[in-house]
Amino acid sequence: MSPPKPNLPELSESSPETRAPSRKEQLMHALQEVQGMQLAFIGLHNGLVQALAGGGMEEPAALARKTNTDKGYVLRWCEAAYAFGLLEEEGGAFMLSDEGRAYLPDQPGTLMPLAVHSLLGGHMTLRAAELTRTGERPGEVVLGEQAAILPWFGPMLAANFGPLFEQHILPGVPVFEQADRKGGLAVDLGCGNGWYLRKLAQRMPGLRGLGIDGIGENIRQAEKLAQEEKLDHRLTFQEGDIYTFSLPEPADLIAMNRALHHVWDDKERVFKILADHLKPGGAAVIWEPNWPVELAALRQPGKRGMAVQNLAEHIQGNHFLQPDEICQQMEKAGLKAHVFLFMNGNEQVVVGRK
Ligand SMILES: C[S@@+](CC[C@H](N)C(=O)[O-])C[C@H]1O[C@@H](n2cnc3c(N)ncnc32)[C@H](O)[C@@H]1O
Repeated sequence: MSPPKPNLPELSESSPETRAPSRKEQLMHALQEVQGMQLAFIGLHNGLVQALAGGGMEEPAALARKTNTDKGYVLRWCEAAYAFGLLEEEGGAFMLSDEGRAYLPDQPGTLMPLAVHSLLGGHMTLRAAELTRTGERPGEVVLGEQAAILPWFGPMLAANFGPLFEQHILPGVPVFEQADRKGGLAVDLGCGNGWYLRKLAQRMPGLRGLGIDGIGENIRQAEKLAQEEKLDHRLTFQEGDIYTFSLPEPADLIAMNRALHHVWDDKERVFKILADHLKPGGAAVIWEPNWPVELAALRQPGKRGMAVQNLAEHIQGNHFLQPDEICQQMEKAGLKAHVFLFMNGNEQVVVGRK
């Protein structure tokens, strides 16, 4: 006897196939997109994605041997990455799909920063959830609490902001062309993995650079990358503090990219330091997210992320700034301020000329 037929609902206007997805279905879909990014992060962090970049098929055990990882975890990762379309499978061996390839860090427009962000966002959310009860603001140590995320900060920021710098900010802010003509010394305070100075040095053969950052991992990456790009004869990186560094000569340009809000509590001191270390005619170039004056502007999809990040900044003892606040401090320190806006006004570059 054949089994009874399942009682299938008839397709109608309201059947799942034809009706608009419910809010819950939309969110489940969004959650799956995040899970895909998180799986990509596991693959990137363990070199699994990079090991498959050549395009060949690998069995999980072979992939584990190649990357010096555990074959049990790699098998489960391959299955999950296959489920999310990051890998293709044939006969128990796996290869990168186009979706998986899009996460390769060197790929133009790489999705890698989103994979890192999906985890960093989770970490900062958990910390904010705990700390909202106590009001404690532990500072930047929170960023270093997840050993797996720390090495990805530099690459994430470089991939997020490097193209924007090259395509819009470099050609849009005249100070760079002047620095190119004059040469001299460019200093990057809070330089991260040094991507900004490397991009300047590639374009400007007469420029030398010094990058300073408080995180040793960033400086190690910056030195290695400068060496790989054969820029290390012109670029130096030092682990150090924005408040206490010294320069071999007055600087032609001092940049701070997403670093000023980290030291805003002591703003008078910071702007005095900038003014004191610049040559006459030199410029401080401050790049920050542009915190909107009107709360309603935060509803714009392009600005929402800034609001979440500002909550994460609160944990670190920081907050985002408006151009007027920065200009005011520049003028107080004797620098002539000029504001440039980019990306629909989401990014501000404030130049202060000595
Ligand atoms: C958001 S990250 C930006 C990094 C880099 N400028 C970029 O655009 O990729 C801020 C950086 O400022 C550095 N920083 C914050 N306060 C600092 C201080 N007092 N001295 C040195 N570095 C500092 C942090 O270590 C971090 O690398």
